[in-house]
Amino acid sequence: MYDDNSRRALASALHELIRDATPGTRLPSVRELQRRYQVSPLTVQHVVRELAAKGLVTVRPGNGTFVATAPSRRPPADLAWQHAALGGHVPQDTARHLALLEVPHADTVRMSGGYLDETLVPDKALIASMTRAMRRAGVWGRTPVEGLASMRQWFAHQIGAYNPAEVLITSGGQSALSIAIRALTRPGDAVILETPTYPGYTSVARGHGLEIHPVPTDRHGLRTDLLEDVIRARVARLIVVQPLYANPTGSVLADDRRRELLDLARRHGVFLLEDDYARDLTIDGPPPPTLASADEDGHVVYVRSITKPVAPAIRLAALAARGPAFARLRAAKILDDFYVSGPIQEAAVDFLSSPAWQRHRRAVAREIGRRRDGLVGALRSRLPGVEITHIPSGGMHLWVRLPDGYDDTEVAARALGAGVMVSPGSAWFTAERDSPYLRLTYGETPLPQLVEGVRRLASVM
Ligand SMILES: Cc1ncc(COP(=O)(O)O)c(C=O)c1O
Repeated sequence: MYDDNSRRALASALHELIRDATPGTRLPSVRELQRRYQVSPLTVQHVVRELAAKGLVTVRPGNGTFVATAPSRRPPADLAWQHAALGGHVPQDTARHLALLEVPHADTVRMSGGYLDETLVPDKALIASMTRAMRRAGVWGRTPVEGLASMRQWFAHQIGAYNPAEVLITSGGQSALSIAIRALTRPGDAVILETPTYPGYTSVARGHGLEIHPVPTDRHGLRTDLLEDVIRARVARLIVVQPLYANPTGSVLADDRRRELLDLARRHGVFLLEDDYARDLTIDGPPPPTLASADEDGHVVYVRSITKPVAPAIRLAALAARGPAFARLRAAKILDDFYVSGPIQEAAVDFLSSPAWQRHRRAVAREIGRRRDGLVGALRSRLPGVEITHIPSGGMHLWVRLPDGYDDTEVAARALGAGVMVSPGSAWFTAERDSPYLRLTYGETPLPQLVEGVRRLASVM
């Protein structure tokens, strides 16, 4: 906090100095800035780098830092023609995603999002793995389009249901899901989505011109009893499903429903896209096996990402399938980005094959379990009117029902005003919602702040 404040103070002082100075003026030395603003040399370096990136200063090593020549001002462009050219149809509806990726003000308690916070990133082990990866021969060259052999092998071994030749490496889970939804359908096709579910599927399906058919979930996962009629009536070829710690509800698909789902897929010739996004965020284990492990004839297309349990910056996932579907996925992936950065894959394999990974998984399970229980306790004592629909045995979210009459969007907006960021539940529904909900994320925030977040939430309800 102190560092943030002093960095902001130095940045605003230098902005003022630059605004009033003539181009070419030399800025005070690092030592002088340190002394004047009582900051560390690292803070000075950081701020100067930011100013250089904005083109406001030029750094001449050995000479100093100088106010840059002001860029010639362009007259304001008339971009109105683009509205006419693009038309009113906005196929990519990403507003819900952007809300999730938003970084709130430093004083705001974050109970929204979907990645572990910095305190849970295994930074030392990752730095060591990255350093070793950078030194490997050939690391700067091209990598195979399907992914590094060692990375495919690691995922295949973890998943257990595919051999490495059936695994593609993608830049994170969202990329894998987007490739799979687009490659397995044609515009105009029907796709079945759970409701509520992760908005990442809905946006891709809409963008690809698919007709979305919602099927409700409850605390045991997808309502398979409602599925067959929808498959028949809509001639759907694809069902997107989260069998484990579903986002947002935390539900785990019940055993009898798993069997029924696979049986329906077999009888109707349907693909099941299994998003196994939270297997490595199990708190009370062990988790049930994947749907893929019970699939005999290539109905399951499987996605497993490591961005959530490892670090948001290590954007890697596996997309696995058998038969002609694999060839379609591979072709779609090549059109997107050719191949995934080699150094990132090398570093990830190095880390995931080391004892540090197992230690990290255990530490994450302990800590997010503590946060989950602490958040449940705080909600029960401060907000007894809010119903905790289910205590998940993994993942990083609690799905809570607000008392009737509340508007989730309004509650989330008022909560933000009081300094806590929560997600309004409506964003997760693919159809009309039955009640108002909030999704409260415990993975991104240490427990004392979560408790404070609940206090702030209670103050606006
Ligand atoms: C259910 C689910 N699947 C997939 C993703 C995509 O995550 P990533 O692209 O970081 O792997 C998310 C992200 O929040 C998610 O919640």
